[in-house]
Amino acid sequence: MSPASRVLSPELRNKIMSAEEAAALIHTGVNVGMSGFTGAGYPKAVPHALARRIMDAKLAGEKFRISVWTGASTAPELDGALAMVDGIELRLPYQSDPTSRARINAGDLEYIDIHLSHVAQHVWFGFLGKLDIAIIEVTAILEDGRLVPSSSIGNNKTWLDLADKVILEVNSWQPEKLEGIHDVYYGTRLPPDRVPIPIIRPDDRIGDIHFRCDPKKVIAVVETNAPDRNTPFSPPDDASKKIAGYILEFLEHEVKKGRMPEQLLPMQSGVGNIANAVLIGLVDGPFNNLTAYTEVIQDGMLDLMAADKMRIASATAFSLSPTAVGRLQAGFDHYRQKIILRTQEISNHPEVIRRLGCLAMNGMIEADIYGNVNSTHIMGTKIQNGIGGSGDFARNAYLSFFMTPSQARDGAISCIVPMVPHVDHTEHDVQILVTEQGLADLRGLSPKQRAKVIIENCAHPNFRPALRDYYRRALELSPGKHTPHLLADAFSWHENYLRSGRMVAEVGALRG
Ligand code: COA
Repeated sequence: MSPASRVLSPELRNKIMSAEEAAALIHTGVNVGMSGFTGAGYPKAVPHALARRIMDAKLAGEKFRISVWTGASTAPELDGALAMVDGIELRLPYQSDPTSRARINAGDLEYIDIHLSHVAQHVWFGFLGKLDIAIIEVTAILEDGRLVPSSSIGNNKTWLDLADKVILEVNSWQPEKLEGIHDVYYGTRLPPDRVPIPIIRPDDRIGDIHFRCDPKKVIAVVETNAPDRNTPFSPPDDASKKIAGYILEFLEHEVKKGRMPEQLLPMQSGVGNIANAVLIGLVDGPFNNLTAYTEVIQDGMLDLMAADKMRIASATAFSLSPTAVGRLQAGFDHYRQKIILRTQEISNHPEVIRRLGCLAMNGMIEADIYGNVNSTHIMGTKIQNGIGGSGDFARNAYLSFFMTPSQARDGAISCIVPMVPHVDHTEHDVQILVTEQGLADLRGLSPKQRAKVIIENCAHPNFRPALRDYYRRALELSPGKHTPHLLADAFSWHENYLRSGRMVAEVGALRG
């Protein structure tokens, strides 16, 4: 044990070993629950050592694959390393790793993309089989064996409760000051004995600040000192700024109409640069005393807290750029009063989201003219990332926004299409669509009314004529006039429009 060791429990101190020794305790075929949520708080050493072990086993002609369950996406040291050696049999839930994505799309890795709020309960219900091992990063182990959580909570409570065996990584890179910001709810019960989740405001604390874990289950403790994967956000581009502008204008309008309080309602902000641009836009906006009930604390939220515009942000993880991590660590005493990290079954709990009236803002790949949204599948068959928590929030929010640039691939593809080839969010769960072209407010509109607004407000002018033409012909020839479609044309759109889109781009280049 190093002099500065954060492993204070004498019993667990005896179990300190190297990452390689810990990895040697994991066998092929097991289900492993790992910590980690959007690049925060994932184990940094054991998965990497396990990947080397898997490689050695494969070189010796042995089969070695495990199933990996997490909170959400992790990092190259975990998903990337294990996917690189083809060591993952099955992965759940959300992922965003390029190597895993390639394996999934090649058909070599089974992927179960479920709502983030469902993961813990599906394991408790026994739907996913037995959890053999948990590998969890923590900030410290206290003298009595309680664990100080790390920069994300995700499903760690469930993994620690249900796994047969536990490996702990104690990461001294994580600030000790994290102790106290977490809220680990131990009151969840299974049906038919469930009780209401007692969160009335985003600020409410309902749990413990530590994890409990039976020390007898702990088979290894590994000390690390390694940073989270903190991906920089790109500065907002023109399209993101326009999208953010439309949303802010819309929110002001809703306040004026008396449909929203002046401090707005708790915000959920999805992953990515557009969502972050909306938060940055709020820094100079007219709203004060903002709150967030969301999954991740992004750079934009720190900006809002620093400007004293955001009162409280409840999430399950940080998702910060390296510069924002520096700011967080330097000003931790200011920020800690304003941040709560919860288990992901509570950060994404449908009951709480509905009660608080969250404003859900998520990215999408494409939407169709009736408002159905595809968040996950490129051209209908290739997974990009996963649904994440977007479904938990979209269905239960006060208002659900979906945002995208109107075109992808340098203008070759329209993000507004006749019919989405994969549906993650149905027309019933989508109230507002926003592109850099404008905002479509779909509340109170029938499918045919929605089609006109979506095409005229959100589609790129290059694609409007084709969409108008499709809608006009569908209206004329579709057997049903409620949601008019020409199925053969709708299905061929994704095969054809790449070609026609390229033509548009080529014409543009010639003109240029
Ligand atoms: N057709 C084909 N490809 C498209 C496309 C479309 N309509 N729209 C985007 N793409 C491609 C882009 O070209 C890009 O490809 P590349 O990686 O090969 O360059 C890729 O999809 C990602 O697009 P990008 O614009 O960089 O996406 P983003 O970072 O803004 O993320 C989502 C958009 C939809 C992928 C992302 O928001 C997501 O994963 N959402 C689902 C989960 C979620 O909402 N989570 C929030 C709560 S956890």
